[in-house]
Amino acid sequence: MNSKKKLIAGNWKMNGRLAANEALLKALIAEIGNTACDVAVAVPAPYLAQVQSLAAGSGIAVAAQDVSQHEAGAYTGEISAAMLKDFGVCYVLVGHSERRQYHSETDVAVAEKTQRALAAGITPIVCVGETLQEREAGQTETVVKRQLAAVIHLNGHCISEVVVAYEPVWAIGTGRTASPEQAQAVHAVLRAQLSAASEHADRIRLLYGGSMNAGNAAQLLAQPDIDGGLVGGASLKASDFLQIIAAAC
Ligand code: PGA
Repeated sequence: MNSKKKLIAGNWKMNGRLAANEALLKALIAEIGNTACDVAVAVPAPYLAQVQSLAAGSGIAVAAQDVSQHEAGAYTGEISAAMLKDFGVCYVLVGHSERRQYHSETDVAVAEKTQRALAAGITPIVCVGETLQEREAGQTETVVKRQLAAVIHLNGHCISEVVVAYEPVWAIGTGRTASPEQAQAVHAVLRAQLSAASEHADRIRLLYGGSMNAGNAAQLLAQPDIDGGLVGGASLKASDFLQIIAAAC
């Protein structure tokens, strides 16, 4: 068992509008109290300022869903790590499977984004995970190890400064969650890979993501190598997200 503070991060994806965000955050803040775990919400970029202001002092950290691999300049539509920092962003998702799948993000780009985040003082949440086809072909370990290997040696930074999220692509938004045993098995592989690379690997939080909900969170979070959750759909409903937070603490 490990004694790290668990992290529950909501991933709103491309959902929310000003009024809905305010209602959701107010409902969370009203109930969250002095939770013993870390809580964050990864919100669409236009709402970072709104969420920064509403969440100030609440214990809910602001997270972004992506960051540019470039520092600054002629990259229309991109958002730099320094810009995220201006809005109090503490965490940023990097290499989410939807970015890898729909925006052709490569392992190299994921590594560059990870570096940019760290250089700006933002904790990257590096997402890894296999597709259903890869799982059925017996390639789960190979795929997640390749994705993690891309970020394991960081210039001037230690891998212990990142959070890693294992999100099997077949479990994202499908209602088909990995069983606690399936998730733990992959987390153990990732932990071993991290331990081989860093003497501080035990500090690294490994989150599980993929249809985590109020009903299955406690069992998943009880696994020895699961240090939190990256929660999509269930983070959009205050009561569900609060139950997941309660299951982590
Ligand atoms: P989900 O999404 O909880 O809706 O499956 C998780 C994620 O993609 O981060």
